[in-house]
Amino acid sequence: MSDQGSYYQRDRGWHPPAYTPDYKTSVLRAPRYPLLSLDNTISETTGPVFGHSMLGPLDNDLIRNYAKDGDAIGQRIVVYGRVLDENARPVPGALLEVWQANAGGRYRHKKETYLAAIDPNFGGCGRAITDSEGRYSFRTIKPGAYPWPNGVNDWRPAHIHFSVFGHAFAQRLITQMYFEGDPMIWQCPIVRTIPDKAAIEQLVAALDREAALPMDALAYKFDIVLRGRRSTLFENRPEGN
Ligand SMILES: [Fe+2]
Repeated sequence: MSDQGSYYQRDRGWHPPAYTPDYKTSVLRAPRYPLLSLDNTISETTGPVFGHSMLGPLDNDLIRNYAKDGDAIGQRIVVYGRVLDENARPVPGALLEVWQANAGGRYRHKKETYLAAIDPNFGGCGRAITDSEGRYSFRTIKPGAYPWPNGVNDWRPAHIHFSVFGHAFAQRLITQMYFEGDPMIWQCPIVRTIPDKAAIEQLVAALDREAALPMDALAYKFDIVLRGRRSTLFENRPEGN
């Protein structure tokens, strides 16, 4: 068994159940058989890692990193925070990858069908690596809400997808960040699969007026806690705390 299991009590009531019929695609995705636990092998925990030199100077600037003819359109924001472990110690050298819709709520993806316009200057993805204090930041535009085929009129709240890589490719956690004060958060069928209100609130970035860049960008603060009592809820780690 993995040693994580011996240190942290699993709390399956904290993570959304796999089968949540109000989120329609969960019906076919939900496993029909009991889950099996597989231990990591040496190659998964030690083998290939990303190189820190791979990041380009604009990788954490989504306003410019795909721009052809001026900045991306939308409300300019900075998203920043820290990656922390269960004892609130910073996690340096973690690779964060983010992806999001544009200001109109449209993804730049060939299978995207939403009628909102593509912004030719916005790609919608970026990367950052945490520094020695576990800090990261990136600049972007605030994504729009978008409708999705679930119920007759369901919308995703504005959100940014996050992937966090540790020191091996098998150490990957995925979550979504929402924006403080957005009433759409509490109406979203995906968010509503999370049974614990505190777990939802940990996914909501706080508007930080102190960190705003005057005459430029508002700032949102989003700390990511990898495990423990204050752990961020991750989509791909169903064991909870
Ligand atoms: Fe999304």
